[in-house]
Amino acid sequence: MASIGQIIFWSMIVLIFVCAGLIILLLAIAFSASQGTVETSAPFPVGNLREDVVLECKFLTKSGTDRSSDVFITWEKEGLTGLVYQYRNNAAQLQDQNTQFKDRAQLFTDAIAGGNASLLLRSVKMTDDGVYYCNVGAPGVWGRVRIDLRVSVYSAPTITKSNSGLRAEAPRWQATPNVTWVDQNGKQLNSSTQFNSSSTGIVQVVSNLPGPLTAAEIYTCFIENFLIKSVSEVTGEGDLKNSYFVTSSSQKMLPLPLFGTTPLLLYMLAW
Ligand SMILES: *[C@@H]1O[C@H](CO)[C@@H](O)[C@H](O)[C@H]1NC(C)=O
Ligand SMILES: *[C@@H]1O[C@H](CO)[C@@H](O)[C@H](O)[C@H]1NC(C)=O
Ligand SMILES: *[C@@H]1O[C@H](CO)[C@@H](O)[C@H](O)[C@H]1NC(C)=O
Ligand SMILES: *[C@@H]1O[C@H](CO)[C@@H](O)[C@H](O)[C@H]1NC(C)=O
Repeated sequence: MASIGQIIFWSMIVLIFVCAGLIILLLAIAFSASQGTVETSAPFPVGNLREDVVLECKFLTKSGTDRSSDVFITWEKEGLTGLVYQYRNNAAQLQDQNTQFKDRAQLFTDAIAGGNASLLLRSVKMTDDGVYYCNVGAPGVWGRVRIDLRVSVYSAPTITKSNSGLRAEAPRWQATPNVTWVDQNGKQLNSSTQFNSSSTGIVQVVSNLPGPLTAAEIYTCFIENFLIKSVSEVTGEGDLKNSYFVTSSSQKMLPLPLFGTTPLLLYMLAW
């Protein structure tokens, strides 16, 4: 039979383990609660040549009240010497900026305190294509997110009634796109498409869907290259109902690599 002493001894041991476990648990909770996150809603944006593009990056802090003076944001591009953009002490710090991004990159300064670290890149060039990293350091948050920017040339078509059919005209596409028309049951329809290419490799697309069509039915015109797809829904009468772009399904969802810890450590030291 166990003596009172032994019972007390073992009870103490159990108690110590339980307390240690609880402390570890509390520390883990406190630690994770103090860690904010850096994330993007659009990891695979497709920029349109000579237009502006926003590389989305936001950070969430658990503490809430953040002054932008405590926020440190660095945008990097893989393989690039220097930086794309840096923000620190409430101001742009562009002494290390690569000249390729001079006067073309900026943040939404008024929105930084609210967790917006997105980069606005003006007049996109083909050479902007590549992998970008948004690094954020702020009270209770530090991390980075990867964004793969692809650059293409695309435009929504103007659709008009032509004889008894429809005619779609899109002024600029790159890499001769596929054009398909479907009826509202998703059945593919016969159509004929011409591509008028300019010396710069940009093509004008003109596609005809012959009639007769049903006035009240919705027809959808898809214009698609390897990166992006334009979707236009129009009635048999040529009234546009909806028009939007989606990034092509042919674009593979790459698994995000684990945190690059080395730059982060350097970055924390610098901060
Ligand atoms: C940041 O603000 C800009 C301008 O208002 C907006 O276009 C962008 O979507 C915002 N991004 C995030 C992540 O909130
Ligand atoms: C579509 O074109 C194919 C071949 O060009 C032809 O065989 C078929 O009958 C056409 N379909 C319609 C609905 O016109
Ligand atoms: C092809 O493009 C040129 C230059 O943009 C234009 O003048 C011409 O009318 C176009 N041709 C067709 C068939 O659309
Ligand atoms: C166009 O369609 C063909 C046949 O379905 C396909 O092989 C090709 O990759 C497509 N091209 C583009 C740019 O999507």
